[in-house]
Amino acid sequence: EKGGWSSFMAKEISEEPDAVANTILGRVHDGEVVLPELEGLDEVLRDIDRVIVVACGTASYSGLLGKYAIEKWARIPVEVELSHEFRYREPVLTPRTLVVSISQSGETMDTLMAVKYAIANGARTLSICNTQGATIARESDAVVYTHAGPEVAVASTKAFVAQITALYLFGLHLARVRGELDPAVGAKQIAELQAIPEKIEQVLKNAPEITQLAKWMSDSRAVLFLGRHVGYPIALEGALKLKELAYIHAEGFAAGELKHGPIALIEPGQPVFVVVPSPRDPNSLHAKVVSNIQEIRARGARILAIAEEGDVAVLPFADEVIRIPLAAPLFEPLLTVIPLQLFAMELATAKGLDVDQPRNLAKSVTVE
Ligand code: F6R
Repeated sequence: EKGGWSSFMAKEISEEPDAVANTILGRVHDGEVVLPELEGLDEVLRDIDRVIVVACGTASYSGLLGKYAIEKWARIPVEVELSHEFRYREPVLTPRTLVVSISQSGETMDTLMAVKYAIANGARTLSICNTQGATIARESDAVVYTHAGPEVAVASTKAFVAQITALYLFGLHLARVRGELDPAVGAKQIAELQAIPEKIEQVLKNAPEITQLAKWMSDSRAVLFLGRHVGYPIALEGALKLKELAYIHAEGFAAGELKHGPIALIEPGQPVFVVVPSPRDPNSLHAKVVSNIQEIRARGARILAIAEEGDVAVLPFADEVIRIPLAAPLFEPLLTVIPLQLFAMELATAKGLDVDQPRNLAKSVTVE
């Protein structure tokens, strides 16, 4: 039951710190990730030469984040593909390919069929699933469960952060098994991940601010989302949430793509959410994104920046700044996504829409 919340979605967003914490629980020992469910698979994990992630919708965006983490830590190539594209294009699979499926429900037909296709073509399979005993989990060689608890609202929120957490745990496990992870680096990453639930709590405290923002913006016709590196999948997710809940045209872009087309969309008053990388980012992506902000601001865009606490470089150019606590770059998405989920929910609420049951959508898509 909703337990005092206005919607299941509001309740489930409030449960995100627990979704992350419970997904980590029992899987860290002495500064190392230990996944007992993968026991006996070390040989397979050492032998694989490629990972293909298959998923749909929000789950596929968690897969994109998994790619950044797994490639960085385990130094193995990762591709991410929508399940319904994967299974119809004769992908190249070998016994050294690990197909990782991600599904909250574990019943999404296209993802299930992608897993069956992978098995039939000799690949190894692992699923990341939130529902005990679901079909996809049963079909796969192994399953790493997310422990977000039952997700009732059609739009995925807490399952998404749990999926990212599980993928990161898997990435650290894989890197260790393959001998790619410096134990000190691994321990530091784990400590950073364990600190995330508390930081999500802090982001949730800004909720009233976002409610105001959503009210002001409830007559927007289109909203754009920009991000870079791990902010890019979050931009895609922010746009998807707004489409499905508030029925507003929304698009997410990689900030580096702006000049290759999307900047033509910018006209005076166009709202643009920008997920700003940390100024501490070693690749200096922060400066690049700030310069993107300047470019679109000069063309009249209304900038809604999601930026780290203390990042003053965005202040002169942003109309609104939503602050997130400091976190290691790879873990920032677990924080930056929260304001975007809240924004979509609040804007839909301001428009009088049912946030738990958006029109035309079903919680699990068991048909093709
Ligand atoms: C969006 C959303 C969907 C699901 C997608 C996959 O908010 O919920 O995009 O993420 O339908 O569903 P699962 O994870 O059950 O396979």
